[in-house]
Amino acid sequence: MNDQIAVEALTEDQARKELARLVTEIKLADAAYYGEDAPHLTDAEYDALRQRNLAIEARFPTLKRSDSPSDKVSGAVSDGFGKIEHGVPMLSLDNAFTDEDVQDFADRIRRFLGLDGEEPLEITAEPKIDGLSLSLTYQDGRLEKAATRGDGQVGEDVTANARTLDDVPEVLQGEGWPSRIEIRGEVYMNDEAFAALNAVEEAAGRKLYMNPRNAAAGSLRQKDPKVTAQRPLKFFAYAWGEVSEPFAETQVEAVKALSEWGFDTNTLFKAHDQVEGLVAAYHDMIERRARLGYDIDGVVYKVNRLDWQQRLGKVSRFPRWAIAHKFPAEKAVTVLEAIDIQVGRTGSLTPVARLKPITVGGVVVSNATLHNEEEIERLDVRVGDQVEIQRAGDVIPQVLRVLDPDRAGRGDPFQMPEVCPECGSAAVREIDDKGKMDVRRRCTGGLICPAQAIERLKHFVSRKALDIDGIGAKQIEMFYERGIVSAPQHIFQLPARIEAAGYPPLFEWEGFGSVSASKLFAAIDERRKVPFARFLNGLGIRHVGQTTSDLFSRTFVKWSEFWSAVEVARDTPDSDAEHALVSIDGVGGAAVGALKAFASEPHNQDMMAELIQELDIQDGEAPASESPVAGKTVVFTGTLEAMTRDEAKARATSLGAKVSGSVSGRTDILVAGPGAGSKLKKAQDLGVTVMTEAEWIDLVSGL
Ligand code: IVH
Repeated sequence: MNDQIAVEALTEDQARKELARLVTEIKLADAAYYGEDAPHLTDAEYDALRQRNLAIEARFPTLKRSDSPSDKVSGAVSDGFGKIEHGVPMLSLDNAFTDEDVQDFADRIRRFLGLDGEEPLEITAEPKIDGLSLSLTYQDGRLEKAATRGDGQVGEDVTANARTLDDVPEVLQGEGWPSRIEIRGEVYMNDEAFAALNAVEEAAGRKLYMNPRNAAAGSLRQKDPKVTAQRPLKFFAYAWGEVSEPFAETQVEAVKALSEWGFDTNTLFKAHDQVEGLVAAYHDMIERRARLGYDIDGVVYKVNRLDWQQRLGKVSRFPRWAIAHKFPAEKAVTVLEAIDIQVGRTGSLTPVARLKPITVGGVVVSNATLHNEEEIERLDVRVGDQVEIQRAGDVIPQVLRVLDPDRAGRGDPFQMPEVCPECGSAAVREIDDKGKMDVRRRCTGGLICPAQAIERLKHFVSRKALDIDGIGAKQIEMFYERGIVSAPQHIFQLPARIEAAGYPPLFEWEGFGSVSASKLFAAIDERRKVPFARFLNGLGIRHVGQTTSDLFSRTFVKWSEFWSAVEVARDTPDSDAEHALVSIDGVGGAAVGALKAFASEPHNQDMMAELIQELDIQDGEAPASESPVAGKTVVFTGTLEAMTRDEAKARATSLGAKVSGSVSGRTDILVAGPGAGSKLKKAQDLGVTVMTEAEWIDLVSGL
């Protein structure tokens, strides 16, 4: 992506050449993505190519090529792997970057558990392997199934492939394993095997793998297990999921057991009783890193006592009892060739640095984010500058600084556009209630802006939302470009809309046969039944992402009750409904404000009315049913003595209660410790059940 002349500025001749270049680039990208599991472009880069192609075709309709990418579905619907639902979600890890973050992690744990300074807190340290996680389920000591992490809830069934790994025992050795146990760990490829594999690929004229992690992922996800068998994949076991009975009391004992049962475990794994020990282990691993023979990208710390891990639980996708201390980012210097604007799903305009491609930590980087106009101003970065960039893990590379700010003949400072480059609507910086200006500039075009509509639709069908198999970015673009799908409900009306738009039935389209077309319709139908939280997340409302959607779904359980509350809150400021929404622990006023704004837009109202017709929205995860506090709204006030406020809240939430910060007519239980004041009085006035901490513990103990 070197010659980014603005589409409006292209001459006809340049446009013709550009269309020819784009068709080739898109074809190459498709081949890499679908054929080799080695995409060389990010989704955003790929999307940008397609969008540019479309924009040029729109400006010069007569130049549209017979092999134009906008007429093709790339890759079509892949058969892929079967799905396996994880009995216990596979979580991610929160990150620590500095020694201080590690101290904060230990302090947070002490606070949560209410440990005093005297009580020892053991934490283990081990390398964070740069591979992909794998879950292996053993029934009576025999390997039954293997799954990738997927989205953490549902992974891909890679059983046949996993069986080919030497490090994955078919039968557990030793003794003491639970009759059913799911063992988790990391599949990786060591440096030597990676180099050998790429040498073979090169000799065969195939595309090289970008790094050992991609090679491991590509090798494990082969359609033919015989190919996986030829790839020297390794596996370190470091965790477990569902178990039929407990098998250890500490992480150290558990890892020892995994090793006795025949798994490779990491020899650098060790428990420490001081934060200083953890930090020393981290610096030691940085020092060893280059000689290990496999890639690691940080150190993972875990609370050693398993009963404490249990008490600590998780916040959203992260366990409270573990954290990844990432290695410092890798840096490089290159040239800024252009600054482009990308419009995101919520309309935010992001300036993107197009860079002269450079390898940073084994990966070719050609784009970096510049975040927003204030950041550009702060860096005073201009086209043509030499810039230092950094790349850390999977995060988008960043521009750190300009190296030659005093260079002669430097270009003018970058001007952020005040209109959306996609739809021409005004792009503005919002000013909030407190008079503070948003750093981001947003397009005001809403759904009339193609970038927003397409990004919203992509989000709607994505894994974390409706999770419709066989509809991804490419299919959404194709249906959108043809005027078939421009709003979420259209996905559920596909056959009729294809016909109405004057196209032949889908099975006659290039890239679709009758099998893949009917599979696609079946996949869509399957998702008409959609869980509350996924549906809400899918709407892509600002500030209402996965975590907030989960909170609403758990609190309201029924979609209809939730949406009525939103509508009442929209129409009646300061209503009980508004209060019920805002008072949910973890939900902010911004989320409720965004919901009200969404529900106020007439086109959203129409969209929702139609969309709900198409769907059967399932009740939110019913709170733990046997628990006497399930579904109850609980407020804690005053001083708690047996546990910290955080632990009390987390425990109540995990039993299905809703924790609120204030007392209202909807409160069921007020747990009042010594020193309780106005909340206690209000609860008494409202006739809310009031308990002491001891009574509360009595009620929930043993659950
Ligand atoms: S423990 C609940 N230990 O890192 C904690 N994860 O960012 C489960 N990973 O998805 C993970 N090395 O794929 C753990 N020694 C290690 C690890 C490790 C690599 C990966 C794993 C996980 C990701 C989270």
